[in-house]
Amino acid sequence: MTNSVRVRAPGKVNLYLAVGARESDGYHPLATVFQAVDLFEDVTATTSDRLELTMTGRAAGLPTDESNLAIRAANLLAAHAGIEPRARLEIHKRIPVAGGMAGGSADAAGTLVALDRLWRLDLEPATLLSLGARLGADVPFCLMGGTAMGLGRGDALTPLLSRGSYIWLLITQRVGLSTPLVFDAFDATPGPPPEPPAVEERFARALAEGDTTYVVMNSRNDLAAPALTLHAGARQVFEACAHLALPAILSGSGPTIAVLCPDGETATSLGRYFREHTTADSCLAAHGPVCGAHVVDET
Ligand code: C5P
Repeated sequence: MTNSVRVRAPGKVNLYLAVGARESDGYHPLATVFQAVDLFEDVTATTSDRLELTMTGRAAGLPTDESNLAIRAANLLAAHAGIEPRARLEIHKRIPVAGGMAGGSADAAGTLVALDRLWRLDLEPATLLSLGARLGADVPFCLMGGTAMGLGRGDALTPLLSRGSYIWLLITQRVGLSTPLVFDAFDATPGPPPEPPAVEERFARALAEGDTTYVVMNSRNDLAAPALTLHAGARQVFEACAHLALPAILSGSGPTIAVLCPDGETATSLGRYFREHTTADSCLAAHGPVCGAHVVDET
C-alpha cells in the first residue's frame, strides 16, 4: 500500500502572450506559448485522517486554509472521485509567489497528481487536465509541461515541437503582482480594442527549428506594458536588460523577468550584476523545457 507520494511540478515562462478583449465571463482570450522550467514545487502527499497542508520554502504570507489552491485541488479531486479528502500535504515552494510563473498553479497540479496516486484513482490525463482547468487557467499546463500553445483562457493546450534547450536567468522581485490587477490595467490601456489573439506562424516555426534567439527576440507579451507600469522594480530590471541589449522577457503577468543566456556561467555572472545593481530579490538560473507534474518518489 502507498503511504506517501512525492511529486515535482514545474513553473513556467510565457514565450509568447497575446491578449484579446475581456469577455463576458471576465476572462481574456489568450494565444500563449508556455515553456515549463526546472524551478519545481515539491508536493508530498501522505495518508492522514483529515486534509491538512504545510508549506516550506518560498511560502511567506500564503494561506494554508480552504483558499489555498492545493487545498481546493484536493477537495475537487475527492469530490470528483466521491471520497473524503484525507491526506497530509507538504509543499516545498521554490517558485516565487505572485511572480508570473504559475507557482500556485504548480501546487495545484502537483496535488492532483500526488493524490491521484495516493488515493489510487488512476484517472486519465485528460480528466486531470479538465479538473485542473476548473482550478485556474495555468494548472493544465503545469500538468502537461514541455512547450505548449494555450488558447481560450490559456487552458486549451496543444503541445508544440520545440528543439533545443533554453538557459534562463530568472530575476524575481520581493513584492509580486496580482494577475487580475495586471489584466485590469491592460483593459484600461488607451487605444483601439485588441485584435483576436493568435500565435504567429513564423514564431512557431522558429521554436520547432530551435532558433532560440529568434524566439526570444520576437517574443511578445501584451501584459508587459501594464505590468511594468505597475511595478517599479520590474521596470528597473527590464530597462537594465534593454540597456545591456540582453534578450529578456516578462513572464506572464510578471514581475519575474527571464533573460536568455548562452550558458550557465553567463547566467551566474549576470545574476551577480542584477543583484548588485538593481532591487531584484533573487536571481535564479533555470532551464526549459522540462516535463510536467510527475511522481518522483513513492513509499
Ligand atoms: O484562472 P486564474 O485564477 O489563474 O486567473 C486569475 C485571474 O486572471 C482571473 O480572475 C482573471 O482576472 C485573470 N485572467 C484573465 N484571462 C485569462 C486568465 C486569467 O482575465 N485568460
